Amino acid sequence: MKRIGVLTSGGDAPGMNAALRAVVRTARSNDMSVVGFKRGYNGMLMRSLTSSDDFIEMNSRSVSGIISHGGTMLMTARCMDFYRPECVKQAVRNAKALGVEGLICIGGNGTFKGAEALNEMGLSTIGVPATIDNDLRYTEFTIGFDTALNTAVEAVNRIRDTGDAHERVSIVTVMGRDCGDLALHTALACGAEAAVIPEVPWSIEELGNMVHRGVISGKRSMILIFAEGAQSSMKENVKQLKEEFPKLHMNYDKLSASQFAEIIEAISGHETRATVLGYMQRGGSPTANDSILATRTSARAVKLLAEDIGGRAVGVKGNTLIDVPIEDAMKGETFDPEFYELVGITGYTVKKYSV
Ligand code: F6P
Repeated sequence: MKRIGVLTSGGDAPGMNAALRAVVRTARSNDMSVVGFKRGYNGMLMRSLTSSDDFIEMNSRSVSGIISHGGTMLMTARCMDFYRPECVKQAVRNAKALGVEGLICIGGNGTFKGAEALNEMGLSTIGVPATIDNDLRYTEFTIGFDTALNTAVEAVNRIRDTGDAHERVSIVTVMGRDCGDLALHTALACGAEAAVIPEVPWSIEELGNMVHRGVISGKRSMILIFAEGAQSSMKENVKQLKEEFPKLHMNYDKLSASQFAEIIEAISGHETRATVLGYMQRGGSPTANDSILATRTSARAVKLLAEDIGGRAVGVKGNTLIDVPIEDAMKGETFDPEFYELVGITGYTVKKYSV
């Protein structure tokens, strides 16, 4: 191939810019030209008033100085139209009209689904894993995860300081969509008392009792890391909780972090506060690990296209670069029971809820 496209799609992840830089520079050193599509797959549908708003020609200079920047210079978005085969076909036609023979899709699960659809419709694609969620099983790490983890750990360590000073319990909600990886790693790295994640059923009553026992055993503060999808594996349902805690304001079925905190406080009798880390986890300069991962995986992606190989997802296993069929990249669970047990053993014996 002599001309390829690149895009970033889905939630942004620190290191996406480093990935774009590596794509462009590796392509140029292989005499390939690069088109950058803006706002993920939306750019390929070319619906803006001016073409420069949909795509740009990229060269080595257009990616100067971006390796350390968070966000993505091509911008990103989710594109619901890509669930419609006629839109995918249109995107393939548009890419081919520009002379684009292959495409590198930088993003997570949803991005890979789009890449698979394009590949099936005749445009060779390679997936580069970039999401703070780390929810792609075929690769040990996704670009952005390490940065988000370090950001979360720094924030939680600060929350621990104030929690210690006030002898409080803190619920800290981290991102991750349906995946508990970010929560689990954060909990392990900052010595949290519990990680509450979608992959493991849990009970808010047991958690509240555990907090109570922790306080009597002399714990000054406690950190409970909640994955954003944690409610999906809670044993109690909201209706049941509304009956048990009529004084609490639970108007919706989705409980907020503050509502979880209110319930824990009511059960444990111990002051509990909630913090939702939110989008701060997605911003900031990538860590060295993320910049290196982005550079290595993206360079491999370009080399595959240069050899006319498509339909693959690039990743890393045991610090070695791998590539797998893109349809396999989205299969399986990422949950690591060893990590979960370690949070229990070193933070608090969560599984047995004993001190
Ligand atoms: O996939 C990355 C992620 O940050 C998830 O952790 C989170 O659930 C989601 O994106 C939030 O998406 P949005 O930016 O659309 O609010």
